[in-house]
Amino acid sequence: MADGAGEVLEIGEGVSGFAPGDHVVSTFFPGWLSGRPEVIGFGTVPGDGIDGYAREEVTAPATSFTHAPKNWSHAESATLTTAGLTAWRSLFVDDCITPASTVLVQGTGGVSIFALQFAKMAGATVIATSSSDEKLERLRDLGADHLINYRSNPEWGRTAWEITGGRGVDHIIEVGGAASLAQSMEAVRVGGHIGTIGILSGVSAKLELVPMLIKQFRLQGVLVGSRENQIDMIRALDAHTLRPVLDRAFPLEEIVAAFRYQESNQHFGKICLEF
Ligand SMILES: NC(=O)c1ccc[n+]([C@@H]2O[C@H](COP(=O)([O-])OP(=O)(O)OC[C@H]3O[C@@H](n4cnc5c(N)ncnc54)[C@H](OP(=O)(O)O)[C@@H]3O)[C@@H](O)[C@H]2O)c1
Repeated sequence: MADGAGEVLEIGEGVSGFAPGDHVVSTFFPGWLSGRPEVIGFGTVPGDGIDGYAREEVTAPATSFTHAPKNWSHAESATLTTAGLTAWRSLFVDDCITPASTVLVQGTGGVSIFALQFAKMAGATVIATSSSDEKLERLRDLGADHLINYRSNPEWGRTAWEITGGRGVDHIIEVGGAASLAQSMEAVRVGGHIGTIGILSGVSAKLELVPMLIKQFRLQGVLVGSRENQIDMIRALDAHTLRPVLDRAFPLEEIVAAFRYQESNQHFGKICLEF
């Protein structure tokens, strides 16, 4: 579990910036503090190369945490480490969306719902896709401007292109991977941005180079973000009313059921463990 949030019990000698009682949230790359990406692989990532947060008490360097948003529950804060920061980085660090931008988000998982909420926070227009009409209605409630069922409409990229009046989408949160990249390339505008984030439908895809040249879009690999990016995101959240979408919480003993639930794709937003 890379994503954890809780309360500071004690601080070590020489640690500044935190005090007992503070509410904190974990960082994905404790060693990537700021600037451009510099850490390769997952060797230093909690829950991957090192122990994560499926435990009641953790002792770790101070850079493994930032302050949590004010008045958020621990479960809400824990949604930020990976899903929140990945969406934030793609939209505001790798790109710079504005109220004039159109953003396309795929499916109703943690990253895409954060991207929808952040894009609306910036005043952008959002095209949202899902395999479920019922979930599409919930996306509308979150502010999505245009809805497409990617299962009943396999040419959803062309539909998104038409929705923009033939201009194309400025920024695509690409989580589908193998099965969706070609449609994302259909939807993106000339000079647009595809944040290559997820691999939900497979890890390798055919890349058509000629359309890429013609459209001159950026295909940007994304792996979460730096501690500084997280601090910036939380500063923005403290100035807004956005709250994360929590689907369900499980107790720690039911961690396997929590993963099974995620695998089932029934969820909408984030799944948490609370203990
Ligand atoms: N690169 C990074 O930094 C980074 C960070 C976080 C996550 N990820 C990756 O990004 C992906 C999404 O992560 P998540 O945490 O948001 O996952 P998640 O919560 O498990 O999202 C699952 C949802 O994605 C949608 N989906 C499934 N297959 C799809 C497809 N072929 N095309 C479009 N949508 C599809 C489904 O939504 P509907 O039921 O609405 O159809 C499903 O419910 C995963 O591959 C994850 O490993 C990468």
